[in-house]
This record gives sequence, C-alpha cells and structure tokens, in this order.
Amino acid sequence: MKPAVASVWKQLGAAAEALRECHLRDMFAADAERFANHSAVWHDWLLDYSKQRVDANAMSLLRALWLVADMPDWIARMRAGEPINHTERRAALHIALRHPAGKGTIAHTGRDVMPAVHAELAKMRRFCTEIHGRHWRGATGEPITDVVNIGIGGSDLGPRMATQALAAHRHRDIRVHYVANLDAADLATVLSGLRPATTLFVIASKTFTTQETMQNAASARAWLVAALGEAAVARHFVAVSTNLGEVARFGIDPANAFAFWDWVGGRYSLWSVIGLPLALAIGFDNFEKLLAGAHAMDEHFFAAPPEANLPGLLALLEIWNTNFLGADNRALLPYSQSLGLLPRYLQQLEMESNGKQIDRQGQPLNHATSPIVWGEAGTNGQHAFYQLIHQGGRLIPCEFIVCREADFDLPGHHEKLLANCFAQAEALMRGKTLAETTAELSSAGLPADEVARLAPYRSFPGNQPSTTLLLPRLDPFNLGALIALYEHKVFAESVIWDINPFDQWGVEYGKQLASRLLPIIEGKADTTGLDSSTRGLIAWVSANTTAG
Ligand code: F6P
Repeated sequence: MKPAVASVWKQLGAAAEALRECHLRDMFAADAERFANHSAVWHDWLLDYSKQRVDANAMSLLRALWLVADMPDWIARMRAGEPINHTERRAALHIALRHPAGKGTIAHTGRDVMPAVHAELAKMRRFCTEIHGRHWRGATGEPITDVVNIGIGGSDLGPRMATQALAAHRHRDIRVHYVANLDAADLATVLSGLRPATTLFVIASKTFTTQETMQNAASARAWLVAALGEAAVARHFVAVSTNLGEVARFGIDPANAFAFWDWVGGRYSLWSVIGLPLALAIGFDNFEKLLAGAHAMDEHFFAAPPEANLPGLLALLEIWNTNFLGADNRALLPYSQSLGLLPRYLQQLEMESNGKQIDRQGQPLNHATSPIVWGEAGTNGQHAFYQLIHQGGRLIPCEFIVCREADFDLPGHHEKLLANCFAQAEALMRGKTLAETTAELSSAGLPADEVARLAPYRSFPGNQPSTTLLLPRLDPFNLGALIALYEHKVFAESVIWDINPFDQWGVEYGKQLASRLLPIIEGKADTTGLDSSTRGLIAWVSANTTAG
C-alpha cells in the first residue's frame, strides 16, 4: 500500500473506532438533514446511503482515499486502452463497446477500435432484422421461433439476467432460452419443449474451448442433425466468439460468426456480440438503448467527483463496511421480480473480479477484498432469510434496489412493493428496543408476565446498514446504466484494494484440474498421484455405477 493510502487508511480505522458505539437511530435523531447530507442524485436516480454507518468525517476520509489511490489516473489508463489487466497483458476496454459512433476514437495498441465495434453491431442488427422479419428460415423453410443461447459465466449470465430484467420489452415472436450447465438436465429440459425446425442455437464462448459450452453445443448439434441432417447446421447454428478458428472447426459457417476481442473480459462482455440473444429477445433498438444507458453511466463515472459519483460512492461504502466495520458479505435485495437474476450476475461480476489476495506487485495483501455477494428479489427474500438479517447478530450491509414505477402494472402491486422495501430498510436501521417492545405489548393488553416473557424475542438490535438505489423504471436505458454502475464500482474498488479485477486464475485452476480428472473418471488413466479423498470418490463412482 502506498504511504499516502496507508495514512488515510489509518485515519479511517480511527474514524470507524469512533463510530463503533453509535447507533444509526441516534445518528438520524442527531441530524435532521441526514438524508439530504447522505444521498446523491444522477439524472432521475436517487442513491440514499443515509442508513449506512458513516458520518461526515468518514465520508470525507473516503473521498480522500479515492484521490490518494489515484482514481482519476486509473480511469484515464482504462480509457486509454493501457494493459491494466497486467497478468494477461490485456486492456479492459468494455467501455468502447457502448461508445457511440461519431464521438471520437478509442485506441488499443495504437489503433482505433470503434470501426470494428460498430461493424459487429451493424452485423448484429442485420441478423436481428432477418430473424424478427422471418426472413431467416430454418432448413425446412420455417421461420425461427426459439433461440437457445449456449454459454456459461460471462457468456450466459449477462444476457440471461438482462433478458429477464427486460421481460416487459420482449419481442413477441421470439422466445429466448439459456443453457449453461454441464449437467445434461439443463440442455435436455430446454430441448424437450422445442422443435428442431424452428430452433436457432447461439454458441457463445469467448475462447470457444470451455468444456461446458462445447459439450452442450455438441449435444445440441447432435439433436438437430438427428432430426434435420448435417446440412441443417448452417441455418440453425451461429457463434459468438473471439476465436473464429475454433468456430470454423466446430462446423459453423464463418458468415454466421459474430466476433469480439481479447480486450473484453467475459464478465464485461454483455455489450458485445455476447448480447446477441438479448438483442433477439428485446429487439436491436432496445439493445442500443441499453448501450446508451451504459455509456451515460460511463460518462458520469469518468467525470463526477467522488461525493456525487454513484459507482464511486458504492465502492467507498463497501470498502468502509468491509475493511473498517468488518463486514464479510453484502445482501443484494432488488425489489423487482424482473431483477431476480441480478444477485447471480453480480456474484460473478464482483466476486470473480475482486475475490483476490495478491496485489498488483505480486505481494500478498493484508486487507480483505470482495465481500460475499448474495441475495434475491424482494419480497420473496423477506419470507426466507430476512429473519437472520434482523436478528441473526451478523453485520450484513444490505443494498436495496427498487423502481419508482412498475414494469408490469397491475393495480395494487407496486405501492405494496415500495412499502415493503422502504419498511425493511427502516426496520433494519431503527430496530426496536426492549423498552419499545415492552410498551407495545403492554398497550396491546398483554399481562405483565407475558410482556416480560415475549419482549426479548420481539426486540430488534437494528443498526444494520443499508443503501437504497431508487430508479425511475426498469427499461433498457436504465438497466444498461445499472449494470455499468456495478462494473465501475468493481473497478473503483480494485484500484483502492490494489488488485487486478480482470483476471480469474482461481477459475482457471478448477478447469485445469477437471481436465486432468476426466480421463481418470472415463477409465482411461489411473489414479496415481491423487489424494485419498479424490481417489476414494472416483473409486466409489466406478464401483457403484450400473452400466446403461
Ligand atoms: O467462469 C470463468 C470464465 O473464465 C469466465 O470468466 C467466462 O465468462 C466463462 O468462464 C466462460 O468462458 P468462455 O466465454 O470462454 O466460454
């Protein structure tokens, strides 16, 4: 850690110590302007962080941290296409994928990437027009009704989450399905409802070597060929990849291949041709609005000072909770059924990016990095795990996301959704003291001994920090901005934590070991060198699996 960062870090430790005994309800009581002082507005978005355990001193130190960590300089390096993914010697230029045409250049190794980006987008648009216009016909001459995206990780989670999030904007003639898991149950379940003649497969893989995707693609191909013959592949398979050589080897017509580049990380690739299934699901005009929203958030992140910078504020607050208050997790609680997959998407974005303990100089860190991100849509979560957040005794910073307007408007729903969301944030902040519970039970007419018996169970410590992000509505523009918000939050955290957010060696290690074990499980290699547990598991499978 640089001395200037270490110095602010130390002061933040002291600030956290000073606040340790403060309760959020007292902070609200002491400052009538707390909401105004601890909230930020961007366009028609509101970020309320007044229920975080911060005061003016902590916030001013966090802003200082932003500056001493050289955030503006790191942002400039990202924008300039420098190889900030230093372990893979790659740039991280996902911002170029949503950069509008005619708005200047973005250079990578001395060349402007924008013409190639817009050429692929134009190709995507043409393809969407053909599918939606029913001009693209399958091998039997029928139009496509169902698209199956086969991909995993970044080649699945982004388009899958966004397709669900934008369900209200779905193209009426096309159904889009997602298959990711190596477990045959995933592909088999999706295929069971489909007809080969009207199904199009999108094989999405940055590397085009990922075991899960290649196995699912091969099985999908076999399913199609069994019904329509080998020649049908050209009309029913398209590919999305950086590895066009492997795409051709798989047998997909190069004319049906959509390209992207190694400077796009898998979990940052939604904006590229990886977004093809999403564009097919919502129409290309809506996909462009998603890109516009992300670009608007890029501009905000690049220019806004830390006190008004939404990704920056989220990053600084998470660092406060993680490194100074000792939280090891964050609950992500969208009060939106459409955003139900957002926690899963952010698990990859945040934990695969920042789940690291080696700094940019190759040295072990002595501070925590990414918390465990978990959660699910409200109000469902309230009836599952909220009990533990209220009374489980753990520090669980919560992030509520809710829209002012409903995306599916049935009378009577949205007001209740908002009421539940705000009520949870209030209850977690305020809690309920033993005295309040006692008074409440007494005034309900319970006998004194019953009041004394029940009051401890029905009291709540509160002081659970939360942030509420209030969006106007869930539409393509706002969803694009929301995803970009989290991408930049992750980047800002990585700068302060001094880690590379763009590699994922832990995942690569798992892939390497699985490739080594496969021939052993297939009975083509022996178990020499394996630990006794792995050997025992494999032996158990082989001894107890019945043939057929
Ligand atoms: O999950 C690990 C990972 O490497 C991700 O980063 C990536 O999004 C995913 O695998 C899939 O990789 P590919 O797109 O190359 O198939």
